[in-house]
Amino acid sequence: MRSIKDADVKGKRIFVRGDLNVPLKEGEVRDNTRIVALLPTIKYLVENGSKVILASHLGRPKGKVVPELSLKPVYEELKKLLPSTNIYFVNDCVGEEVKNKVNELKEGEILLLENLRFHPEEEKNDENFAKELASLADIFVQDAFGTVHRAHASTVGIAKFLPSYAGFLLEKEVKFLSKVTENPEKPFIAIIGGAKISTKIGVIENLLKKVDKLLIGGAMAYTFLKKKGKNIGKSLCEDEYLEVAGKVLDNAEDKLLLPLDHIVTDNIDEPKRIENTPDENIPDDMIGVDIGTKTISEYAETIKEAKTVFWNGPLGVFEKDEFSKGTREIGKIVAELTEKGTVTVVGGGDSVAAVKKENLQDKISHISTGGGASLEFVEGKKLPGLEVLE
Ligand code: 3PG
Repeated sequence: MRSIKDADVKGKRIFVRGDLNVPLKEGEVRDNTRIVALLPTIKYLVENGSKVILASHLGRPKGKVVPELSLKPVYEELKKLLPSTNIYFVNDCVGEEVKNKVNELKEGEILLLENLRFHPEEEKNDENFAKELASLADIFVQDAFGTVHRAHASTVGIAKFLPSYAGFLLEKEVKFLSKVTENPEKPFIAIIGGAKISTKIGVIENLLKKVDKLLIGGAMAYTFLKKKGKNIGKSLCEDEYLEVAGKVLDNAEDKLLLPLDHIVTDNIDEPKRIENTPDENIPDDMIGVDIGTKTISEYAETIKEAKTVFWNGPLGVFEKDEFSKGTREIGKIVAELTEKGTVTVVGGGDSVAAVKKENLQDKISHISTGGGASLEFVEGKKLPGLEVLE
């Protein structure tokens, strides 16, 4: 990939594709992580005299103008983050008004375009739409790592019409995620949690080829345990994935570790009973909600010597304090390892939320801004938005 550093950006109009798909609450940005992550590229361009045209999608408006999914709140947040930069906003991403605003841009200024997905052509990767976007700029900079698994006009189509470069966030994401997928320093331990095997099967299968150990947590563990003939009570289980789970277990040899005990409850929302089971079995009337104390010790012991750690997915119902101990304890160990020089990478939406809940975000080597994109990367899939930059 050609780096933004290789481009002559002075005085040029630069179309920056960011992933500004951030959570909103009452018209304001609730979590600005993805905006902050884009700042190194934006600041570099501003400081080097570019005219920055910033574009993104927000949510899934399905080709219609949905006022609640306007990027206006992102504009307000950007102004707070870059108080000494002139930043403008325009109510569309193509058309005469946009062209005029681009023409008025001076060096070091930013124009944020409205949600690309208000136009159905964006997700269809429509060639004319891509051409229209490209006509606004001299150079394309892709920095929307979270969206490179989508073949859309602003992630793939546009690259045909403009010299294209990778932004700093994209480079950082690829660098760290590649440390996991290509020659990770050993021992390499992966921790995979979350509710469903179905969404992580590709990741698990690919990681099993590379890891020394793969630790399973979260509700997906119950599907594996059921396949092994354990009692899982009323816990979540993907019965249609039992066969797949069996195949994974057969191929994994002794690499795949499952919980040895669990925290269980009678009711997730209004728990009256919360217990730690003595072994892998869950009583008929109980629901598994977290890994138990034996499992925490076993997993901690396994992770201790790791030189590379990849973590995706919480190990229990971490949103509830009563059921968050497993995720918290494992998170602390991963953070300690980072301090000792282990490369630790956290990818995917919920695991990032879990790390933040425990305030460990500054103690991890890299927290991916990609959800689906980071999973597909680790799965070994070709990502169309990266391929066009290669
Ligand atoms: C994400 O949040 O994972 C990215 O912004 C991509 O969004 P999408 O799944 O709606 O394409």
